[in-house]
Amino acid sequence: MRVGIIGTGAISDKHALAYRNIGYEVTVCTDIREEAGRRFAEKYGAEYVRTYEEVCRHPKVDFVDLCTFPDFRLQPIEICAETKKHIQVQKPISTNIETARKMIDTAKKAGITLGVVSQHRFDDSSIFLSKAIAAGRMGKLIQADAYVKWYRSAEYYSRPIKGSWATEGGGALINQAVHQVDVLLWLIGPVKELFAFWQLGALHKIESEDVIAATMRYANGATGVIQASTAMWPGYSERIEIHGTKGSAVLTGDKLTAWDVQDDSGEPAPVEKEVMSGSSDPMAIPLTPFERPAAFLTRNQRRPPRLAGVAEIAELALERRQRNRHRIGRAGHHLLLDRSGFAAVVLHIPRGQLVAGENRGALGSVQLDAFAVPRPERGRRLDDAGGARFVAQHRVHDVFGFDLVQGRH
Ligand SMILES: NC(=O)c1ccc[n+]([C@@H]2O[C@H](COP(=O)([O-])OP(=O)(O)OC[C@H]3O[C@@H](n4cnc5c(N)ncnc54)[C@H](O)[C@@H]3O)[C@@H](O)[C@H]2O)c1
Repeated sequence: MRVGIIGTGAISDKHALAYRNIGYEVTVCTDIREEAGRRFAEKYGAEYVRTYEEVCRHPKVDFVDLCTFPDFRLQPIEICAETKKHIQVQKPISTNIETARKMIDTAKKAGITLGVVSQHRFDDSSIFLSKAIAAGRMGKLIQADAYVKWYRSAEYYSRPIKGSWATEGGGALINQAVHQVDVLLWLIGPVKELFAFWQLGALHKIESEDVIAATMRYANGATGVIQASTAMWPGYSERIEIHGTKGSAVLTGDKLTAWDVQDDSGEPAPVEKEVMSGSSDPMAIPLTPFERPAAFLTRNQRRPPRLAGVAEIAELALERRQRNRHRIGRAGHHLLLDRSGFAAVVLHIPRGQLVAGENRGALGSVQLDAFAVPRPERGRRLDDAGGARFVAQHRVHDVFGFDLVQGRH
């Protein structure tokens, strides 16, 4: 696969390394900072072009990987819709729901795949949990929480765009804890009600929140809390804690660190103690999940993914070619491919149509994906400590994520 990267900042390096590991080629790149773009091009043997349009139209690009801030997403998708190239965008999908919807509609109408990087869906730990929960191993779910007590330095926030509503879409929730919100929604399901307190700029000089504490009720009746911050020095590994009537599971960083379930049977739980986390360093994140092109797999994996072998994939690939579809498998249908399955897909699908691949046992189907945390109304400061209170009721939108339907302070 030949990838065109737009935005050659910090995260694009992780993408390029992951692509290299799975045998993809970064052929073209651009950045509005020409020097950075050219440096990146030289490092990874790509051609530097001046504009994102050129990346999206380039004949040597099979799919586009957008690594810019979330205020720049729709424009490349519109060009990709014309050129029929699939596109992956970094998280969060956008700074606002309206643009996210436009992005999805544009991709849908054009029949291209739009993926959002949600790499933690590809950790062995969360894949195990998704299957175990679906199989009822934890019993009925009663509580599911995320704790993201991270720290980011003043230097991290020194660029005025960091933590801004306009460029980043908010602070600790949408930028850092977005992964845990995503994993909770994936594993537990939609949220029906939510109540939260937040503090705007509690520690940092930013306009959005660096501390948030929310309680929620999921549609399935379970309750939960989300605690997210970038103000908690020195920063601790993030945790997701899930409790069912039969026992408990804890994800710490990228690993399953506790699996305490009564009368359990089935695939052994991959419990580990060594974790990787971006708790105090945004780039101290594991590479492996990026090698499982998360973006193309992120949507709605509530059904346990299946591991597909060569024969099945070849069949699907042929069927797909015959029907000239842009999907492997049916919509809503996810497959995990083993190495040979992946090889089969590569062999059977004409170049330029396959959009995801992985070399360690998880390649998936192709689906539209969207995820966004809403930007609530700005909270008025209600107390001297600088805390703002925010009460909102959310309803779950049919695509994915929330719609803010009412907010009061
Ligand atoms: N999934 C993860 O774990 C993870 C980790 C870090 C960052 N991210 C996300 O990745 C995205 C980028 O973050 P980053 O830390 O790499 O930021 P960054 O500022 O280091 O890089 C962004 C790059 O995009 C370039 N750019 C901006 N607008 C452009 C345009 N119109 N055309 C071409 N280039 C343009 C900038 O010049 C910059 O070099 C953000 O959405 C962030 O949330 C995700």
